[in-house]
Amino acid sequence: MTEVIDGNAVAAEIREDLSDAISTLEQAGTVPGLATVLMSDDPASETYVSMKQRDCEEVGINGIHVELDNDAPADELYETIADLNADDEVHGILVQSPLVEQVNEREAFRAVAPEKDVDCFHPENVGRMVAGPSHARFKPCTPHGILKLLDHYDVETEGAEAVVVGRSNIVGKPMANLLAQNDATGNATVTVCHSRTEDLEAHTKNADIVVAAVGVPEFIDGTMLKEGATVIDVGINRVDAETEKGYKLVGDVEFASAREVADTITPVPGGVGPMTRAMLLWNTVKAASEQTG
Ligand code: GUN
Repeated sequence: MTEVIDGNAVAAEIREDLSDAISTLEQAGTVPGLATVLMSDDPASETYVSMKQRDCEEVGINGIHVELDNDAPADELYETIADLNADDEVHGILVQSPLVEQVNEREAFRAVAPEKDVDCFHPENVGRMVAGPSHARFKPCTPHGILKLLDHYDVETEGAEAVVVGRSNIVGKPMANLLAQNDATGNATVTVCHSRTEDLEAHTKNADIVVAAVGVPEFIDGTMLKEGATVIDVGINRVDAETEKGYKLVGDVEFASAREVADTITPVPGGVGPMTRAMLLWNTVKAASEQTG
């Protein structure tokens, strides 16, 4: 029987553990604080940020939300980030991507103080992560959440052939790096595939673990997978559908055909998404402990 991973359940367990850690911090006089910054015309971003704020409330993190006018000059965003960097009640800062076009996203991520960079997007933190477990400060939320899911469902990474489809800075690159690291959640043999890969199927067919993070609806189907594979679907794509909202969410994997072949698979929604949110809370608690400890 194919096991369908329940990301909501694993994320709920993590939130419960974090609530305890937060109570301990509070008793020592620190309420962890997370600031989210939104400057975007992407319709999904507002929903994502409000879910992150709701999560904060649930576990006892002080959520601070800043929304900037989409027409405001880029400097307004940098000033906001500088103020949050200087605010002792803010331990983590998340600048929601994508940003409006007048802002250089890379510059914005670099403006966040590295110790408050709970996304792990700042080059200092990316470098520390790549340098290895003993150097790392944070792990980025989506790859970190995926490692937690693999561990929770006893998916062995050591010696596994892992194929990461997609090479984004947010998911593909750090995912590939973390799976290859020499530690308990790594030691996989990792291949990174992308839009210029000549024969994607030749790679995915050979993979024990496939992580799909390309942002193309149902890009990978069951015929491209190895029998018994673990399939992790990072995609959240809106496609037109006759629903109340006029769309439905599908992943980068065609779930129906993939589940026939896979041993373990994440659904969309309810797989990776809740874990990304849980690991943001995790990084915020880590940031608060380290800034006050
Ligand atoms: N947009 C989509 N995913 C993410 C994320 O993990 N962090 C931020 N800041 N923006 C995103």
